[in-house]
Amino acid sequence: MSASGWTANDPSGKPVAGRTAYLILHNTSEVVTPDAEGREILRFPKGAIVFRDGRVLEVGPAAELSRRHPDARPLNAGGKLVTPGLVDCHTHMIFGGHRAGEFQRKLAGEPYAAIAAAGGGIASTVDATLGIKDEILEKTLANRLERWRANGCTTVEVKSGYGLLPKREIRLLELMSGAAIRVPVRVHRTALLLHALPGEYADRRAEYVEEVRGNLLTEIHRRGMASAVDVFCDPVAFTVEECRGVLQRAVELGFPVKLHAEQMARYGGAKLAAEVGARSADHLESATAEDWGTLADAGVVGVLLPAAALTLRQRLPDAAMIRASGARFAIATDFNPGTAPAQSLVECAALAARLCGFTANEVLLALTWNAAKALGAESEVGHLMPGAWGDAVMWECETLEELPYWMPAVRPDTVFMRGADLALPAVERRVWP
Ligand code: NIG
Ligand code: FE
Repeated sequence: MSASGWTANDPSGKPVAGRTAYLILHNTSEVVTPDAEGREILRFPKGAIVFRDGRVLEVGPAAELSRRHPDARPLNAGGKLVTPGLVDCHTHMIFGGHRAGEFQRKLAGEPYAAIAAAGGGIASTVDATLGIKDEILEKTLANRLERWRANGCTTVEVKSGYGLLPKREIRLLELMSGAAIRVPVRVHRTALLLHALPGEYADRRAEYVEEVRGNLLTEIHRRGMASAVDVFCDPVAFTVEECRGVLQRAVELGFPVKLHAEQMARYGGAKLAAEVGARSADHLESATAEDWGTLADAGVVGVLLPAAALTLRQRLPDAAMIRASGARFAIATDFNPGTAPAQSLVECAALAARLCGFTANEVLLALTWNAAKALGAESEVGHLMPGAWGDAVMWECETLEELPYWMPAVRPDTVFMRGADLALPAVERRVWP
């Protein structure tokens, strides 16, 4: 347990000692949640939720729940919509600097790969990240996590990847733990290990891949520094064979794995995801219906990143094609300084709904249960069925259909973590260093 008593990121998952919270959230416009299997969206008009010891005890009609729980502390939702806390299952939020200048070049027509080859791209963020003091990087990450919570996310995945050299990737993973214990957000740490070839290894590509596959993975495993391993499988990054080697080793060590797949071009990442039993394949801008079928058959979640597609002026898949494949899909921000400077998950979902043609039910599933599945956390978060953590959001709107509707995105009124209505930071707070 952390010194503050906050235990969102305490691996033991034990509730905070002391008085137990027993609370009934009532007078909602509706409570909306995926069922425990993530099959359908349940809607409880004027519903209520009972939280006890940090978990959901019951969800259902308010009149019935109030009768059964006369001792629970009542909290009036004021006629607002309540959903599970959202899950952002793909971010790169530990980095220094920004690449707004590069964005202008992209808009003027310069390709991502050409900017990277000219010293921009991932390498420039690696340099900027190296130039920031540890405590500033850690605090910036903590502030970003708080902004995500203020925007309705109670579980957030954070990838390393702007270190590249083994000791620098380790540094980022260490700083992530430092930030995670300071904020009431569930943080999933992912080691993104094949992101770009560092300049130091320019003529020694095979040596770099072997260093990552061998020593770096072993150390991350030995020190318990990450809960998943990711790679960038793409013509501008690493080949299917290079990625396969690292992912297979990660699987041998017991890590769940995931891939950046089929982003700049169709390259075989979706098939590799199925082959290695990845939890998710992310991006997929260049994936075909066949690739989506492959993901569906293997039970791999396809993660859509609308901000990256928009920034790189790529197309997103059509809802009808995804539905026909039967694959599960999630939506995430991909927050990073190069392709997705996107700080609101709901805003990303509002864009995806328009660009792909998703229903409000599909959007909610993509932001909750399916995103939790991409992190292997769907038994604990991403829904409000009995036994789940009491992570919920009361929104400044009344119906589920308003979530993908308003732009800028609807904001939370109150965010609950473990059944507690914690104060929110002022979202306008400056988070850039
Ligand atoms: O998810 N695709 C790889 N990584 C990031 C972009 C990294 C960068 O340009 O800094 C992404 O889009
Ligand atoms: Fe990404």
